[in-house]
Amino acid sequence: FVRALRSKGRKQLSPPGPWSFPIIGNLLQLGEHPYLTLMEMRKKYGDVFLLKLGMVPVLVVNGMEMVKQVLLKDGEHFAGRPNMHTFSFLAEGKSLSFSVNYGESWKLHKKIASKALRTLSNAEAKSSTCSCLLEEHVTEEVSELVTVFVELSSKNGGFDPRNAITCAVANVVCALCFGKRYDHSDEEFLKIVKMNDDLLKASSAANPADFIPCLRYLPLQIINAPREFYRALNGFIALHVQDHLATYDKDRIRDITDALINVCHNKYAATKTDTLNDSEIISTVNDLFGAGFETVSTCLYWSFLYLIHYPEIQAKIQEEIDGNIGLKPPRFEDRKILPYTEAFISEVFRHASFLPFTIPHCTTADTTLNGYFIPRKTCTFINMYQVNHDETIWDNPSLFRPDRFLNENRELNKSLVEKVLIFGMGIRKCLGEDVARNEIFIFITAVLQQLKLKKCPRAKLDLTPTYGLVMRPKPYQLEAELRSSGSSSAQ
Ligand code: HEM
Repeated sequence: FVRALRSKGRKQLSPPGPWSFPIIGNLLQLGEHPYLTLMEMRKKYGDVFLLKLGMVPVLVVNGMEMVKQVLLKDGEHFAGRPNMHTFSFLAEGKSLSFSVNYGESWKLHKKIASKALRTLSNAEAKSSTCSCLLEEHVTEEVSELVTVFVELSSKNGGFDPRNAITCAVANVVCALCFGKRYDHSDEEFLKIVKMNDDLLKASSAANPADFIPCLRYLPLQIINAPREFYRALNGFIALHVQDHLATYDKDRIRDITDALINVCHNKYAATKTDTLNDSEIISTVNDLFGAGFETVSTCLYWSFLYLIHYPEIQAKIQEEIDGNIGLKPPRFEDRKILPYTEAFISEVFRHASFLPFTIPHCTTADTTLNGYFIPRKTCTFINMYQVNHDETIWDNPSLFRPDRFLNENRELNKSLVEKVLIFGMGIRKCLGEDVARNEIFIFITAVLQQLKLKKCPRAKLDLTPTYGLVMRPKPYQLEAELRSSGSSSAQ
């Protein structure tokens, strides 16, 4: 219904949207796959519409042009985060990713975190064969992952690769954040993996207090569980950061924690206000730790599923690897010479769209969109899944076809790659895009260089995701077989 709103004496239209029930709003209409329901609603209401999740009005934005309007052209007005109960206790409201406090100090916070990531990307590797420390960590982890895959396969035949992937990616994140890798059976390590998983599950379970605000005052387990899990993880990270503060050496940057201390200490020399204090450093490490974990491991879990579902695509990637890098360990710079592999990764991002929405945004001031009046503090969902499956951009969007990203010379069509929306864009864009792209590339190429992945005989694979903040595939099993060196293995 299009409702008329009165603002500053002028009659302004509110976006259209479905009729909603009192208290629960449109929650029951969302179904098992809300991004698909919202795509259907778009057919009726257009690119911009309003619904109610519980008692909270939510603006839904679809379509590349409208998304660009919100995230780029009018980015400043849509750069806030809503006051959701689940996010409110992350870093006591000071989280870089979730804090409602958008403004100058948040901008400084993001700038510092981004500078620290850049410092780390330039940090030198210990061995001369790797171009940087991050590449070295990923290379080390993937070689362990290959060993684990071979062992699991020879012991059990088919196995679910999820735990092994989670451990490998968790170890990259631990190495990135604390300069330390763990044995996969190390107790402390398994505790961190579990803490992170608990926190993610508790935050992704639609928390009723996010949508019916008065519930947040009730002492219920489902409502308060994320707070407990967050405290546990933060306590663990705090111990590592304190240890780093005591042993920090500006001439030897070991990881993100050192890089953050470095950026902040340099700032101290100029002014004490332009920097982060120790508890903000801890929460920033926590932000980066959380952001780089589930996203990357879910992407790899999807990638291996697509690779066993489409063995001919797997074989083409292997052919490209064999022809262009042979047996030498893959490096970040090889992305340039493996266009089909890059196209495959882009197609996984697009087709799976495992982050169907960005983190919710919120308007920072009254604004207008597509002729509609949008008041300040309106929670806004950006439907990235819709953009990635929009028939006006993608030919046959439901088909999984990496070739769509290659031009007639088999080069990567960069302008099409940029149309895939998975890291967001504008002010709130993902900080770890380069890290993630590099890391995923090395994992996939190094595994396929050495192993042939196969679906188990008679197994039925299901590409339908399980809905969540980050959407995982349903559990599946695969078999891994060592490749005879340098031969492509299409069958
Ligand atoms: C935010 C995607 C990996 C750090 C985001 C957002 C998306 C995203 C969609 C929200 C954008 C928005 O709200 O508009 C991904 C994907 C990844 C990935 C698909 C992997 C495949 C990483 C990694 C790091 C990272 C490895 C860190 C090393 C962050 C941070 C934010 C963020 C700090 C918050 C930015 C802000 O609130 O301004 N990411 N991410 N991400 N990501 Fe990532």
